[in-house]
Amino acid sequence: MNMFTEVVPGTAELSLSQHGRFSGFRSEIMMDLAVALLRLLPPEPAHHTTVWLASNFGYFLPRAKEDDPRLGIEVLGHRFANPIGLAAGFDKNASAYHALFKMGFGHIECGTVTPYPQKGNPGTRILRLREDSAVLNRMGFNNDGMEVVASRLFRHIHDGIIGINIGANRDSGDRIDDYRAAFTLLAPLAGYVAVNVSSPNTPRLRKLQSCEALHVLLETLVKARGDMKVPLLLKIAPDLEEAELDDIAAEVAAAGIEGLIVSNTTEARPSSLKSPRSGESGGLSGTPLFRMSTDVLRGMRVRLGPKYILIGVGGVNSGATAYEKIRAGASLVQIYTALIYHGPGLVARIKRDLLAYLERDGFSCIADAVGADVKP
Ligand SMILES: Cc1cc2nc3c(=O)[nH]c(=O)nc-3n(C[C@H](O)[C@H](O)[C@H](O)COP(=O)(O)O)c2cc1C
Repeated sequence: MNMFTEVVPGTAELSLSQHGRFSGFRSEIMMDLAVALLRLLPPEPAHHTTVWLASNFGYFLPRAKEDDPRLGIEVLGHRFANPIGLAAGFDKNASAYHALFKMGFGHIECGTVTPYPQKGNPGTRILRLREDSAVLNRMGFNNDGMEVVASRLFRHIHDGIIGINIGANRDSGDRIDDYRAAFTLLAPLAGYVAVNVSSPNTPRLRKLQSCEALHVLLETLVKARGDMKVPLLLKIAPDLEEAELDDIAAEVAAAGIEGLIVSNTTEARPSSLKSPRSGESGGLSGTPLFRMSTDVLRGMRVRLGPKYILIGVGGVNSGATAYEKIRAGASLVQIYTALIYHGPGLVARIKRDLLAYLERDGFSCIADAVGADVKP
């Protein structure tokens, strides 16, 4: 499987009828050709080429079929056509989301975006741990900077909800001011803003999850938001102690932000890992992250209750794992690593299986299943 499979829809799930047989056939040939060529590249160049192809030729991709209304959910002041989103880090620079929406995502989180453009860490920065259905990344917030990203979002009409994930420049003298600046420019263009204090690849960034720093950060952002209606979500790490999670829940409630994204990649290396390069530095994502991120998600639902919105991310690779996140308290679910191993047809399969789970359990819509496994 190749990085390219992240953006090339599985043809079985696509409705050719909306675009006519010829355009569907033509795009299938183009995709097959592109897959064959991209398989020759290592992960990061393949990823960049994929994003480039999606941003320049996404027009030719057929649109995924319309979602069953039972998959729709109203949260964060928006109606999401379905609960499945693309996690931050794929479309870092908001250059391919119009093509990515065609795969059937209900939302796409662009970013992480920092105030100034930066290259990120040197060397090889993405490793596939095939034996573990996992990925290690140590990108370090490579991105085009907030002004370029803002100009891209400004130009386009969106097919779904766009979240924008913001962060601080590595060499910034005032990281909290970086979040303020990125928020101020990007929030008017966003369906929600995700405050990323949990990347393991920018030194000391995770310290912003500590009580005092988080208090100042959230206070600053809530003040910058003023009368703007844009929802604020904090994206946290899965590597936090219970006491730290207590503090975060208290700060979220005190600041009056809308909720959490749980979780980013982990610095832990579960003993189950089999891949020879699993000991290298970086954040681990994919299947080995599922259990720990879902446990943190459930714990935060218990702490915060149903009033706060949780987005569940980490190791989702099927309808069953997406549904478990929803039952643990997630109103929305995001995926990234599983797309690398299962291809973009996964989005349609997850949605189909979610409908089957709703029917099996007697729920009339996704909202009814949210938090079903968490006792009030
Ligand atoms: C290559 C790569 C780059 C990522 N970049 C970001 C990022 O810029 N900002 C962020 O908040 N999360 C980033 N993430 C983390 C994902 O958004 C997600 O939280 C994590 O991968 C767990 O989901 P998964 O197991 O479905 O991949 C990145 C993940 C990967 C694999």
